[in-house]
Amino acid sequence: MKRIIIDCDPGIDDSLALILALKSPELDVIGITICAGNVPVELGGVNAYRVLKLLKREDIPIFLGDNNPIKRDLVTAQDTHGDDGVGDVLPEVVIPKDAIKLGAVDYLIKTLKENDDISIIALGPMTNLAKAVEREKEILKRAQRVVSMGGAFRTNGNCSQVAEFNYWVDPESVNIVFENVDKSIELIPLDVTRKIVLTPNYREYLKQMKNEIADFIYNITGFYVDFHWMQERTLGCVINDPLAVAYFIEP
Ligand code: RIB
Ligand code: CA
Repeated sequence: MKRIIIDCDPGIDDSLALILALKSPELDVIGITICAGNVPVELGGVNAYRVLKLLKREDIPIFLGDNNPIKRDLVTAQDTHGDDGVGDVLPEVVIPKDAIKLGAVDYLIKTLKENDDISIIALGPMTNLAKAVEREKEILKRAQRVVSMGGAFRTNGNCSQVAEFNYWVDPESVNIVFENVDKSIELIPLDVTRKIVLTPNYREYLKQMKNEIADFIYNITGFYVDFHWMQERTLGCVINDPLAVAYFIEP
């Protein structure tokens, strides 16, 4: 099993990526760090906890980063993911004391310093990773692999003609990370993730599976499907983040 930390901004597709990672026997998710992006960081922590509770993996620690990009003001994507970040359909969730901690950057630095077999899968803006580098310049070089869903290669962006959301929210952090990862950072940009569409057929199949996880996925993706139809006449929804996890397992 490969030991990984997932840095994410759940978010609907981040939630699907977490489910895939937690259900993959090849991966040992040792911790989850939350960055501000799709939603403010506290909400991201709540949504990560929702997934851990669904999969009965509340043993995995969640650490919050700061609620702002390294230089710019935060611009969220709640128009895409819902105000609560997971489609505005789920009931309130009670978060046990200590289930969500602060100190994402401390956790990243400490874990990478104390282990040499940790990889990072980054599914949101790179703020936490950049802040770790600002504190310990060489720290990301200790990661076995760094896989990042972000950027847009020779394709139109989803935040402007050219910009993809994760890198658009905090480009200064992307610069810091790219300049301080000696191994080649493995990018999963929009030009490839756009190919991963959760189609109505797949959603209907999920609905017929009649199990708790399938229902969760069906329920949280409804808002995302509506947004895709309204915004770009896509029938279904582009689920970017799970591809980064699938690629990590099977490049
Ligand atoms: O541009 C898509 C990316 O931005 C995905 O990771 C999505 O969750 C948002 O963070
Ligand atoms: Ca994300």
